[in-house]
Amino acid sequence: MPVRPIVKYGDPVLHGPAEPVEEIDDSIRALLADMVHTMYAAPGIGLAAPQIGVPLRVIVIDLSVGEDPSQLIQLVNPEFVEREGQQSEEEGCLSVPGYGGTPTRAARVKVKGLDPDGNERVYEATELLARAFCHELDHLDGLVFVDRLSPLKRDLMKRRLRKRVREGWEK
Ligand code: NI
Repeated sequence: MPVRPIVKYGDPVLHGPAEPVEEIDDSIRALLADMVHTMYAAPGIGLAAPQIGVPLRVIVIDLSVGEDPSQLIQLVNPEFVEREGQQSEEEGCLSVPGYGGTPTRAARVKVKGLDPDGNERVYEATELLARAFCHELDHLDGLVFVDRLSPLKRDLMKRRLRKRVREGWEK
């Protein structure tokens, strides 16, 4: 279970849609294992496959960051079944290190997808877990939290990020 490098804002894989997984095989289960390992190492509470450079519709979420195994969510081809209400809280993203923002998210979501064994799973979530689902599913559509900010804040942050991308993230 190697820790994979996390790609940063500006990499095309983060800014385009990811492809659905056709079949859940051992390569997908290995991808999920690497994603969980990478999320815990970061540490973070969620990760989408494009963030490790893989343009597939796969996400992992664990609000306990590995403390409570029952909280680990691994979903292939996740999609919203229901979304309602609104909430706004500060968010960050492992692919946009050092920046934060307060995007508007759904207050309650119902998400379905396939687990690593190919069984359908349905999750209902509010508060932080709902925000995590919205954040990670956005990654699968090529969107980061910056894209969900108010126009003024979005444009300001994008200008700063473009400069950051030009200079290189590692500095
Ligand atoms: Ni993110």
